[in-house]
Amino acid sequence: MGKISMQNPIVEMDGDEMTRVIWKMIKENLIEPYVELNTKYFDLGLEHRDETGDAVTTEAAEAIKECHVGVKCATITPNAARQEEYNLKELYKSPNGTIRAVLDGTVFRAPIIVKGIDPYVRTWKKPITIARHAYGDVYRAFEMPVGLGKVDVLYTDPFGVEKREEVQSFDKPGVLQVQHNLKPSIESFAKSCFNYALSTKQDLWFSTKDTISKIYDHTFKDIFNDLYEKRYKPLFEKEGITYFYTLIDDAVARVMRSEGGFIWACKNYDGDVMSDMVASAFGSLSMMTSVLVSPDGNFEYEAAHGTVQRHYYKHLKGEETSTNPVATIFAWSGALRKRGELDENKELIDFAQKLEKACVNTIESGKMTGDLACITSAPDPQKLNTEDFIKEIGNTLAAL
Ligand SMILES: NC(=O)c1ccc[n+]([C@@H]2O[C@H](COP(=O)([O-])OP(=O)(O)OC[C@H]3O[C@@H](n4cnc5c(N)ncnc54)[C@H](O)[C@@H]3O)[C@@H](O)[C@H]2O)c1
Repeated sequence: MGKISMQNPIVEMDGDEMTRVIWKMIKENLIEPYVELNTKYFDLGLEHRDETGDAVTTEAAEAIKECHVGVKCATITPNAARQEEYNLKELYKSPNGTIRAVLDGTVFRAPIIVKGIDPYVRTWKKPITIARHAYGDVYRAFEMPVGLGKVDVLYTDPFGVEKREEVQSFDKPGVLQVQHNLKPSIESFAKSCFNYALSTKQDLWFSTKDTISKIYDHTFKDIFNDLYEKRYKPLFEKEGITYFYTLIDDAVARVMRSEGGFIWACKNYDGDVMSDMVASAFGSLSMMTSVLVSPDGNFEYEAAHGTVQRHYYKHLKGEETSTNPVATIFAWSGALRKRGELDENKELIDFAQKLEKACVNTIESGKMTGDLACITSAPDPQKLNTEDFIKEIGNTLAAL
């Protein structure tokens, strides 16, 4: 049987450490035997980022705008220790941050559900996808310690007209924080959430604390509501899905009692906190997928975890590792499926489906990596090393 062809390329971004090792194995064992891969390759490994002064990261992000689909391996975000380890010319920014800034996207994170890796919350049966707004609030806040005295906020409009409001009169020392956000950024976030809900046919929940934050959080609520009423309502009704707004505290309570199967859109800080809670409550970080969706229809897929540095050092010493490749495989299947959908390439869509099924079936047959073997409820799990596990998925795939 001939290989599946791809009319248009996807952007392939290679990465670092153990995930770079896995990346090659996944391509060789699971994808290239079946698909005539058509990719625009960018090496985002730290050495090459350093050689190009990080230009390669921006070039890759620009290429995603052209191709509309990308798949990314986990990469090191350098800190002082990494600067020394890799003898870097400078402390480059997080590649994910750079790509997000170019694409203006929203990150959606969803767990991969398999039998035997049971969520800690008994009622959860389907994935809960967290959509996190990635601009402003506490992450771009101005902060300072203050002594006794008065703090005012002064706004000057483009014509020089000033508006001054008292924030607080301090009769004891205190601290100050000033947050902001931008309406276009909130609109982009809302559009990405509505579009993603439509493309995955899931209900969308959004939550803030607008009863307390009557202007700031209320602006988020109003932007979502306006867009829904003016543009998305008929599309949601056609797909039989709903948009639902509630207070963040009510949302948390409802999420804990829900069956899952919806997207939960969160402001920046809420999304940061809740995505880690949801990931660990579903079982394992190594089973969490992540997709960056931009409001103008670009998609970048990756695993939610990092480069699994500890396993890489073992691998370099020639020791056996048992690193879970599933989230990285799902990044590839996600990107191939999206390419297939955009190009109406049914064979490619079917292949992506099979690849995911092969991962799930292999784990459900009791064969898995060490991180899963120690949390599974399956009787007698068989712990495999990285390479054998990928080969086992390959055997399952070949038999489907
Ligand atoms: N999206 C990204 O590119 C991304 C995300 C997070 C961290 N990072 C980078 O990754 C490097 C390592 O960071 P970290 O250790 O904080 O995060 P990590 O996700 O690599 O590891 C966190 C913990 O989870 C375990 N783990 C994660 N993925 C696993 C897998 N697939 N199989 C088995 N165990 C797994 C690790 O052993 C470790 O104990 C850092 O340089 C960081 O900058 C990159």
